[in-house]
Amino acid sequence: MTILVTGGTGYIGSHTVLALLEAGKDVVVLDNLSNSSEESLRRVEELTGKKVAFHAVDLTDAEGLDALFAAHDFSSVIHFAGLKAVGESSAIPLEYYYRNVAGTINLLRAMDAHDVRSIVFSSSATVYGEHNPVPYIEKMEIGASNPYGRTKEQIEDILSDLAASDERWSVALLRYFNPVGAHPSGRIGEDPQGIPNNLVPFIAQVAVGRREKLMVFGGDYETPDGTCLRDYIHVVDLAEGHLAALNHIEPRAGVFRWNLGSGRGSSVLEVLRSFERAVGHELPYEIVARRQGDLPAFWADASSALADLGWSTTKSLDEMCEDHWRWQKNNPNGYTA
Ligand code: UD1
Repeated sequence: MTILVTGGTGYIGSHTVLALLEAGKDVVVLDNLSNSSEESLRRVEELTGKKVAFHAVDLTDAEGLDALFAAHDFSSVIHFAGLKAVGESSAIPLEYYYRNVAGTINLLRAMDAHDVRSIVFSSSATVYGEHNPVPYIEKMEIGASNPYGRTKEQIEDILSDLAASDERWSVALLRYFNPVGAHPSGRIGEDPQGIPNNLVPFIAQVAVGRREKLMVFGGDYETPDGTCLRDYIHVVDLAEGHLAALNHIEPRAGVFRWNLGSGRGSSVLEVLRSFERAVGHELPYEIVARRQGDLPAFWADASSALADLGWSTTKSLDEMCEDHWRWQKNNPNGYTA
């Protein structure tokens, strides 16, 4: 009983591979390494003392996928692989639809052909779009507002249609809120290429001297301190959520949707203060104009995952920042030595 993890060398993927190995599962990783490094898996092997088979297969390579499924006896798939930058998705939408949506269709065809019909999909809170009230609840009508988010939404639709067409499928749609932090060992973590788009990786690079100061996007929102609120979740809690979801769906048919978040919002300045506590000194920042497309505040209603899976977050914002900082400090240039 082997689990295929697509995108398993990436940030959330590598932490999930580690959690799977620690739970005694066998894991095979597929990744095209377009935005990640195989070094993450080497470190997962070092941390767990276990081996992970790695295949550099691209999801657009249907024949390569078929050969991979023929070579292994997979029981299920955890599907992370995909492009994930919101801004870039508006500049090159075709690439996003091709790699994320068409790539997933190839994966699902290979799964179906080889009788593997259990999948946990890496979706995003971004599918809730701009018009839902907070906190977000799984039963809300979804409607993403950018091409990246629409690829997540379309894949959710495809998986739902598939499960409706054939009751042998089990599908978990996991809507992540804002994953941050790193494994407490400081050996694996997030390694963004170029200038980080996301808040915590950017702060971490300011702390390590790779960026001059944090630009806080907007200080005039209708929130307690004027900066946006988000639901930050420790990547180790998130990884555990995948395991819980997989265990739940494997013996059951149908589609299940779960928010993976903490259920509370933290502001940009609260995150900065928490990171400063981890580093031990203040960090330079400036409040600048709002970033286009940002919502003032959103967080999860995390009660379904608790009720169905017995899963909830365990780690505080301070632990997220401490662990993120340990990773960044020990690996100032990420996996590139
Ligand atoms: C972003 C994406 C979201 C995606 C998620 C994946 C956008 C608009 N949304 O979420 O679709 O699923 O990443 O991780 O890109 N901030 C700053 N300065 C910075 C960076 C961020 O002030 O340099 C602020 C943002 O305005 C926001 C908060 O920090 O209020 C979090 O930003 P970010 O980490 O980019 O996450 P989201 O925007 O929530």
